[in-house]
Amino acid sequence: MYFCTVGKIVSLQQAITILQNGGLVAIPTETVYGLAANALNLNSVENIYKSKGRPSNNPLILHFNEWKDAEPFVQNVPEDFFKLYAKFSPGPISYLLPKSALVSEKISAKNTTVAIRFPSHPIAKALLNELNFPLAAPSANPSGYISPTQSHHVLQQLGDKIDGVLEGGECAKGIESTIVGWDENGEIVIYRLGTITAVEIEKVLEKPVKVLTGEHKKIVAPGMLSKHYSPQKPTYITKDLRGKIHQFSEKKIGIIWQIKPDVFDLNDCINLSFSDNGNLEIIAKNLYKTMYKIDNLDVDVILIEQCLEGELGLAIADRLSRAGINLDI
Ligand code: TXA
Ligand code: MG
Repeated sequence: MYFCTVGKIVSLQQAITILQNGGLVAIPTETVYGLAANALNLNSVENIYKSKGRPSNNPLILHFNEWKDAEPFVQNVPEDFFKLYAKFSPGPISYLLPKSALVSEKISAKNTTVAIRFPSHPIAKALLNELNFPLAAPSANPSGYISPTQSHHVLQQLGDKIDGVLEGGECAKGIESTIVGWDENGEIVIYRLGTITAVEIEKVLEKPVKVLTGEHKKIVAPGMLSKHYSPQKPTYITKDLRGKIHQFSEKKIGIIWQIKPDVFDLNDCINLSFSDNGNLEIIAKNLYKTMYKIDNLDVDVILIEQCLEGELGLAIADRLSRAGINLDI
């Protein structure tokens, strides 16, 4: 099922050949689809930025199969890294580490660190296993738009700008990896929330972890900019859909609820929901898919209910706060 060749969907073997020849292939990971290229081929890396319309000051993550492949690309690695790697990698976490001279400034955008990640998706692993270079891969969406969690999202948004999409089904986690790094005092910092939570990281390291994301915090990574993961239609976020809906009475409204209500009482609207029962893992998995869906329906504005619960809920709320305008402040 996975390795068919329809349209721009390519087989694993074709993906290998395209990447070896300097092309761009969207690849499945357990978080979101990535737009991959040979990280050692600077023309290919340049083409990632071009095809996404990504500003050149927004650095890329290097993807590897395992630590021994990544080791030459980083230096002065803190002990904490090995504890986290042992527990969470391969999986949905990226590490910001001091880069070695092997990492081009085009990848790191002139930072002294580079982000490295070890995806667990079996197809990403099979691909990396066949390559003798790391893959640079940002999320496979036009800069600023929602990250793709299914191959057709990539085909719709970037199909004509890339050489192929490797089919890997729907991404299991649904939001981008947690990004951790170490500050000038060697303290661990979370720069982007993800499905691996601060509490889980604290448990492994047996010490508190600083979370440095959000609009009022210092911007270290452009991915921390306040508007970043948004639908094309005007999008608004609120804890109180029923209380805020009257503000849009002249418009065709699309609503996304956190939990499907027993009765959709806001009848004149298109109603979608992230989950049937509020399970946060399901909400994360469905987050971008549901936003894609509503963005493609006949609506003028999108209203999304904010997520209020739980540790993983912080990562979900973070993405939603960047998807649109907060109606509650
Ligand atoms: O789950 C993920 O991480 C996905 C999959 C494809 O691996 N990738 C992803 O990449 O989300 P991207 O490029 O869309 O987001 C990476 C974020 C950006 O906000 C970037 O600014 C930040 O990581 N970043 C990368 N390298 C960095 C560095 N050296 N210093 C600070 N931030 C960095
Ligand atoms: Mg991205």
